[in-house]
Amino acid sequence: MTGLHVVDHALLSHRLAELRDAATPSPRFRRLLAEIGAILAMEATRDLPTAVAEVTTPLTAMRHRRLAGPEPVLVAVLRAGLGLMEGGLQVLPEAPVGHVGLVRDEHTLEPSQYMLRMPPEVRVRGAILFDPMLATGGSAAAAVARVKEAGAPHLRFVCVVAAPEGVARLREAHPDVPVYAAALDERLDHRGFIVPGLGDAGDRCFGTEG
Ligand code: PRP
Repeated sequence: MTGLHVVDHALLSHRLAELRDAATPSPRFRRLLAEIGAILAMEATRDLPTAVAEVTTPLTAMRHRRLAGPEPVLVAVLRAGLGLMEGGLQVLPEAPVGHVGLVRDEHTLEPSQYMLRMPPEVRVRGAILFDPMLATGGSAAAAVARVKEAGAPHLRFVCVVAAPEGVARLREAHPDVPVYAAALDERLDHRGFIVPGLGDAGDRCFGTEG
């Protein structure tokens, strides 16, 4: 699928297997989600612009590539995106952080927004959005629209598990936004859950019941 990057890495796959496991408890789930977020953030930033600068090692001076600009804004799509973004902050520790609060109606499957906070840097630095689940794509499309309205000139979307329907909807609404995922799953079930998926990431992350 155009614009979808499914990250292929043994350590990522190993963690995703445990994340999917219904027997994995909340504390372990949170830790795995953060570790997966770090790996995906590395991939999503692989081609950030760099510039050559002088570095002096203990032995000599040399020229070396460094980031050409400040780190992009990281945006968590609440709630489950918090756990995933935590890993993003491990590899981009200077990044400002934004939040988009969305909850999906269990009957209509459409998202409604309950909060939005975006740092001003988003207008020049662009953003990387984090949400573990790309199911129907309604939440992702709405979150991307909010961050664009806040002025982000460029965006990337990071998720753990994507359904084909969700990728299609997000790419149709925002063809300029590349998607980075740990897995492309088979389908959605009648409740809009990704199959095989990993259940409700927000509930599993924070120990709540849907
Ligand atoms: C889940 C998930 C995504 C969304 C995916 O969040 O974390 O944000 O649903 O579904 P969609 O692609 O069909 O929109 P939920 O609304 O359950 O909120 P939560 O993170 O607070 O549990």
